[in-house]
Parts: sequence; C-alpha cells; structure tokens
Amino acid sequence: MSQLAIIGGTGLTNIAGLDVVRQHQLKTPFGEPSAKIVEASYGGDKRIYFLARHGEQHTIAPHRINYRANIWALQSLGVTEVIAVAVVGGISANVGPETIVCPDQIVDYTYGREQSFFSDDFSAHQHIDFTYPYSEQIRRRILSAGQQHNIQIVDKGVYGATQGPRLETAAEIKRMAQDGCTVVGMTGVPEAALARELGLDYACCALVVNWAAGLSGQEIQYSEIEQTVISGMASVQRVLVAIIDHTSSDPS
Ligand code: HPA
Repeated sequence: MSQLAIIGGTGLTNIAGLDVVRQHQLKTPFGEPSAKIVEASYGGDKRIYFLARHGEQHTIAPHRINYRANIWALQSLGVTEVIAVAVVGGISANVGPETIVCPDQIVDYTYGREQSFFSDDFSAHQHIDFTYPYSEQIRRRILSAGQQHNIQIVDKGVYGATQGPRLETAAEIKRMAQDGCTVVGMTGVPEAALARELGLDYACCALVVNWAAGLSGQEIQYSEIEQTVISGMASVQRVLVAIIDHTSSDPS
C-alpha cells in the first residue's frame, strides 16, 4: 500500500481543503524533524502527510534543515511517496516567474550537509544509484494533474542545488547555465538523495519565483518574490489537491 506525503517549502505551510486528523511530534536517530508532521484526510477517505520543511514559522534556513530527520520521520509513519514542493529561480529562457517545473535531473553545488543516513556506518552497497534522481512515476502524476486542470507544467529540467541562504552571484548563475541547470534552488539536495536511500519514491514540483541572478538586468527584490510565491502557489495547491484526489483511498 502506498502512502503519499508532501514536503512544503517557502509559501506552502499548509494545504487548503485538508482536514487535520492528528499531528506527529517525532524524534529520530538523526534528531527532530523541521516541524510536527501533519496527518490529514481529504474528501473523507484519502490520507496524506504534510511536513513544513522550513518549520511552522519558516525559521529554518536551507543549510540548517535536518533533512535526515525529515525523511526518516516520514518513512517511520509509513510514507512511501514524497512530493517535494520548492520555490526556485529560473535560469533557462522558458522558465520565467510563475512557471511550474517538474525537474528530472539535479546538479549539486551544496557543501557541508549531511548527505547520507549511513555516514557513520557505511558499507559498499550503500552507494545508491542516483542516475535518475526523481521518480518517473511521481513525475508523471504531477504532470498529468497539471494537464487535467489546465495548469502548464514544464516537463523536465535540471535543478541546480545551491548552499544558500544568500542568493547567487550573476557569475555563479552563468556557470550554472553552462552546466545545464534549468532552475536554481537551495533545498533539493540532500533531500532527494536521502529519500532514495530509504527507498521512497520522490519527485519535485518547483515554482519559479524570480529570474536567477543577473538574468533580469536588475537586482532580485524579495518583495517581488513574495508576490509571485502567493500567486503561483495557488496553482501548485490545485495540482497537489488533484494528485491527492487521485491517490488510492485509505483502507482504515
Ligand atoms: N536562487 C536560489 N534559490 C532560490 C531562488 C534563487 O534565485 N529563488 C527562489 N529560491
């Protein structure tokens, strides 16, 4: 039996239409997750888990998120599938602000983050395969939910994961463009890799909220990002609700 969870990022701290069933305050061998994990029902018979990646009040910076505790806690609740929602900067010309992208690849520029559950007790078979970092099955569900609701979602793209919390320099974005990155965000790694280590099916639904540094000819204004987060997240929420609506029913 599969069980879906959504990890919400900036601008997505809850999902309208979900009825909270209970909240799970968990401890893991890797510490505490970013927030209580919300167990919710939708339409009476669908069960879903939700975790606010940056904490309930958005106080945890990308490089300080306890990604291991978050993924471990979700799996301990029986979660098998994860949709990770993220806001990103657009690098490619076809992904301006308000575009939703469902990436299929990752380039990792982060450093100093705990990348593995097995760091302290490693054996050779724990070199997980990461050729295709996202679950194609979950990506398809995101894309078809968009199609059903007439919300355009760009199929495929390379998520460049930076350390943050500062935004990038124009030269860094130029280099990322040369590397083939489509979008830039700060939370995609190690989250995706940790999900793979535990065998969770994981994909990302990324909302572009600004042109990446140096691409608009102006400095990045946080007030503009905030506006785009508000307007764009409404579409992301519709996609998520459509996916939840199509998940198989809770047997209990
Ligand atoms: N860079 C990195 N992360 C981001 C950006 C950006 O421009 N916009 C939103 N998240």
